[in-house]
Amino acid sequence: MILVLFLALVSFASIVIYSLRFGITPMPSSKKAQDAMILLLPLTIEKGVIYELGSGWGGLAFRLAKEHPKAKVIAIELSPIPYLFSRARQLLDKRANLIILRKSFYDQNLSDAKAVLCYLFPGAMRKLSLKLKQELPNQCTIISNTFSLINWENTSVIFLDDLSATPIYKYTNNDRLCPKVVAKRVDFF
Ligand SMILES: C[S@@+](CC[C@H](N)C(=O)[O-])C[C@H]1O[C@@H](n2cnc3c(N)ncnc32)[C@H](O)[C@@H]1O
Repeated sequence: MILVLFLALVSFASIVIYSLRFGITPMPSSKKAQDAMILLLPLTIEKGVIYELGSGWGGLAFRLAKEHPKAKVIAIELSPIPYLFSRARQLLDKRANLIILRKSFYDQNLSDAKAVLCYLFPGAMRKLSLKLKQELPNQCTIISNTFSLINWENTSVIFLDDLSATPIYKYTNNDRLCPKVVAKRVDFF
């Protein structure tokens, strides 16, 4: 009993410490947000590499792996408890196309990405804006829950039918043919 309490306390402390360090908790994307993010992925994503940056407990990563079985999903999470949780889930829900890495996504080269998904915070988006410009191949898709990239022109933004009308941004790297911002509310749920 004492051991269980001790482990619970250590896990809680670890989550708090990493949340303070990163400036964000491992709060998962809502079901509506996940649905929208998956819907916004281009159909051509088949067989490509999809990155989930800051994958938390793994909910979105597992859905991506399930819905795109021919793609390779690379989920990256640094906070130990959410990472271990998603690795444990892998034992029960085996997905050959899902790789979960414990590292900072800033240390991951993303040059093989076909798509990048994230749900982060403004500071990370600022830092990622430059990294993504430098590393992503042409036509790569970026989908971000809630927070926009800096100095990137989004190809579309949809607003969820939830309390805060959460925006989901989609960007296509170097795609000059895409229409400019489409700011409309889409109630498809
Ligand atoms: C709000 S959660 C999003 C979880 C998941 N992506 C989703 O949409 O359900 C953000 C996650 O990013 C992780 N994170 C923040 N900075 C990171 C970094 N530099 N490297 C890896 N993970 C990071 C946090 O630990 C947290 O679990």
